[in-house]
Order: sequence, then structure tokens, then C-alpha cells
Amino acid sequence: MATTENTNIVIFGASGDLTQRKLIPALYQLFASNLLPEKFTVLGVSRSGYSDESFRDKLHKALEDSENVDSVTLSRFIEHLYYLSIDPSDSSQYGKLKARLDDLGQAHGTGANNLFYLATPPSLYGLIPQYLAEQGLNKESDGWKRLIVEKPFGYNTASANELDDVIHEKFKESQLYRIDHYLGKETVQNLLVFRFSNGMFEPLWNRNFIDYVEITGGEFLGVEGRGGYYDGSGAVRDMFQNHLLQVLAMATMEPPSAIRADAIRDEVAKVMQSFQPLSDDDLKKNLVLGQYTASEVRGEMLPGYREEPGVSDESRTETYVGLKMFIDNWRWNGVPFYVRTGKRLPTRVTEVVIHFKKTPHPVFGKDAPENKLIIRIQPDEGIQMSFGLKKPGAGFEAQEVSMQFHYQSLEEATLLTAYERLLLDAVKGDATLFARSDAVKACWEFVEPILEYKEHPDALFGYAAGTWGPKEADDLLKNDDRAWR
Ligand code: NDP
Ligand code: BG6
Repeated sequence: MATTENTNIVIFGASGDLTQRKLIPALYQLFASNLLPEKFTVLGVSRSGYSDESFRDKLHKALEDSENVDSVTLSRFIEHLYYLSIDPSDSSQYGKLKARLDDLGQAHGTGANNLFYLATPPSLYGLIPQYLAEQGLNKESDGWKRLIVEKPFGYNTASANELDDVIHEKFKESQLYRIDHYLGKETVQNLLVFRFSNGMFEPLWNRNFIDYVEITGGEFLGVEGRGGYYDGSGAVRDMFQNHLLQVLAMATMEPPSAIRADAIRDEVAKVMQSFQPLSDDDLKKNLVLGQYTASEVRGEMLPGYREEPGVSDESRTETYVGLKMFIDNWRWNGVPFYVRTGKRLPTRVTEVVIHFKKTPHPVFGKDAPENKLIIRIQPDEGIQMSFGLKKPGAGFEAQEVSMQFHYQSLEEATLLTAYERLLLDAVKGDATLFARSDAVKACWEFVEPILEYKEHPDALFGYAAGTWGPKEADDLLKNDDRAWR
């Protein structure tokens, strides 16, 4: 059973954007909700020359005007923060880290339970665990040691496997927590509860009753000053290989034997290993890669991707990916999954849409409404079920109506943010919502042909910023007599 034991949380990359924008605010909220252990410290580690005081000041300023921050609670929280200036790529400096952790453990009674969070450039993800191990900071005889690794976990199959191998030399898989922040989202977790706590949906959740499934992960935002990183990554690596395929797995996995990390992660890995490998023909017919071009949206002129800072003006990096794919197993054989994600789409929306098969005999005409279940991951988290009803008045015409549930309407509607939930789980030692090695591997193997196809001269289509991607992505469904919702 997971418990919240006293802990030292060590953040590598403590002077960076992720630490300030996500990690520290998440830790503050957990502290304010009394969810952190009674005794804990947060030790920020990076090269910048902060002292404990100046690190605390910087984060105090960053948080003080945020929503839901209480000044008294913030001051109490800030006292738990410490800073150590070392270069994490220099093994000779890790003795200082060990000494500092020993001191903090003794002074605060936090002992030797250490959670290491790697929020540095990914080139350090393999090195830091080695250097920690040189100081014995992987050994669990005096307290547990856990390692959270930020995304991206590898750049392709080979580099992900290599990173795995290097980390596994010093840390066991059970000590490793690979972040995919989509798994921390309440509504992604709800896919499991919704599917497996309701007898009425699960019997229909298969090829006999489902016609096709859409998964959309759309963003209105562009690359937001991250052009340098994004141009070397692209939508396939940034969103598709991890977040979208995780959502797909949660929507399609078999029921776990128990709500336990390994039971759930076994089923996730199994379904990912059943994604039908993409053939050359699939890449030509069922894959659409796009890149946004400049366009005026709601009165504002948005730059094209190639005009973004940090992006090459000849870049062929995709900011959109749409794919029709299949899952080769008993439950899903023959059911198409249309999965798309993109930047600079008309709006921010992540949803799963289940389209049920039409009735066997169309007594109300071929245009009678179909049954759809829309699981809205974000924003306005909720579920909508669409069905046909008699149109009031003369005759027997069917019209589409819907029943909706919005998370906002729950009395206890304060949802933990993804980083709050994942940090809390890591502190408790619950790895259920972290990506396991076999799952990450299966996803890289699945997208590998796309990564190779990206280089093809005809692979990339343009789309105007503020539209739903290249027209060729609509054709993916139109050719099957279907349409995106
Ligand atoms: P930043 O560039 O803002 O911060 C990087 C951090 O790493 C800084 O603390 C920096 O500190 C340290 N660092 C940079 N270069 C080196 C180096 N060569 N050697 C040692 N330390 C270095 O990046 P982010 O905070 O945005 O991202 C951190 C990680 O998290 C990345 O891997 C990113 O992919 C991932 N991530 C970020 C997200 C975000 O929203 N920002 C979202 C999801 C993942 P110093 O220079 O002081 O050493
Ligand atoms: C990150 C990607 O992992 O997820 C970003 O690097 C993307 O490019 C972000 O914008 C989307 O996350 P969310 O939670 O805003 O949907």
C-alpha cells in the first residue's frame, strides 16, 4: 500500500522553465492541501549561481500573485526549498550533492528517501543516474530512491532503448518513473473508471458495436518560443508518440485484473504491442503530416511555422499529424482509429469520440442520427452521449439529442493538475500513471516508420494557421464515407 513517507525531492534543472511554471506550483498546491509528507525538503540543483535565499526569492515572486496562492501558506512552503549550484554533467561535483542531502536529511528528519526529478536537457537523462549511483544514491538500504524522468524519453527506438539500458545499469525499473503528463490528467484516468465501473458500456466496447473512433489532441497555440526544441522534434515525437498513443491505449486496453500499477500497465503495454504495424501503403494512404502557414485568425495575423523564432525558414518539421490506424486483437480487429494532433488548430481540444454502428435496418432513413460518445479530456472536461429521439410533431423523424456531464458540475470539482497528481504518486511510490519501459518501446516501434517517412519529399502538406489541418486529413475520413466530428 502506497504511503506518503518523509522525502527529499531533488530537482535537476531547478533554474529552468518547467521547474518554475509546473513543478514548484504543483508542490505548493500539494503542500497547501496537506498532501505532502509531514517532513519534506525540495533541493533545486542546476549550474546557475543561486543561494538558498535567492532561489527562494525567485520562486516566491513567481508564485505570490498566482491564483489560489495564500501568502501565509506560501511563506511556510518556501522554507522547505533549498538550492545547490553544481554542474550536473560533472561527476566530480556529486559528492557535494550527497553531503547536502545527508545534512538536509538529518536537519529535517527526512532521512534518505530521495526522489530525483530530471528536468534538464534530455542529453543529461542518461548521465545523472550514473553519477548519482557513484555516490550510492541509487541504493535503497537506508531509504527509497526514485527517479522521475521528463519527456522526451529518447528520440527514436534506438535512443530510447539505449537510455533505458543506461539507466537500468544503476536503477531498477521499479525505481523509474517516466513522465507522460497526459496520464496525470483526471479525465484520462477517468477513461478507465468510466469503462470498467459501468456494466452498460463495456459490453458494447468492441468491434461488434463500434464503427470507428476519433482521437483529437488539438492546440490553438503555436510553438510558443520553443521553436529551437520543436524544430528538432515535430508533432510525431512531441505529442503523438506519447500523449496521443497513451490516450488511445486507455480507451482500448482490456480490463486490468486489479487497480494496481503492474496490472494496469500490463494491459496498456499489451494493447500498444497490438497496434498494427504501418506498411509503406499505410504511410502513403493513411498518414497526413502538415505544417502551418501564416494566416489571419479572428483579426490577428499569425505567423507561419517557418517564421517562428528558432525555426529554420526551410524547415520540414510537421506541426500536424493525422493517422488512420488499426489494432490487431480480438476486440478491435477492423475498427479504424483516426488519430490527429496539431498546433495552430482552431481551438484547444482533446477528446475521444466513439462512433457506434448504425442500426441494422435504417427505418428512420439513412441520415438518422448515429450514437456517439464523446469523452472530453480538456477543456470543459466531461462526457457527452448523443442519440436519436423522435422529432416532435407529425411523422416519425429522428433527430439527434445529447446528454452531457461536465466535471465542473461536481460538488468537489477541484481537480488535481497533472503535475500535482504525478508528483504525489511518485512521492507515494505509486507508478500506475507513469509509462513503463515496454509501453514506451512499443510506441517508439510503432511510430518509427513515420519518423523515416517524414524525410520523404512528398510527406508534408501545408495548412493555414487556425484551420483543422491539411485538407488531406479530412480526405482520410471522407474516403471512408466519414467525417471528423
Ligand atoms: P529550460 O531550458 O528552461 O531549463 C533547463 C534546465 O537545465 C535549467 O535549469 C538549466 O540550468 C539546466 N541546464 C541547461 N543546460 C544544461 C547543461 N548543458 N548542463 C547542465 N544543466 C543544464 O528547460 P525546461 O525547464 O523547459 O525543460 C526541462 C526538461 O523538461 C526538458 O528536457 C524538456 O524537454 C522537458 N519538458 C519541459 C516542458 C515545459 O513545459 N517546459 C514540458 C515537458 C517536458 P542551468 O543553466 O542553471 O544549469
Ligand atoms: C507537451 C508538449 O508535452 O504537451 C507541448 O511538449 C504541448 O508541445 C503540451 O503543448 C500539451 O499539453 P497540454 O497539457 O496543454 O495539453
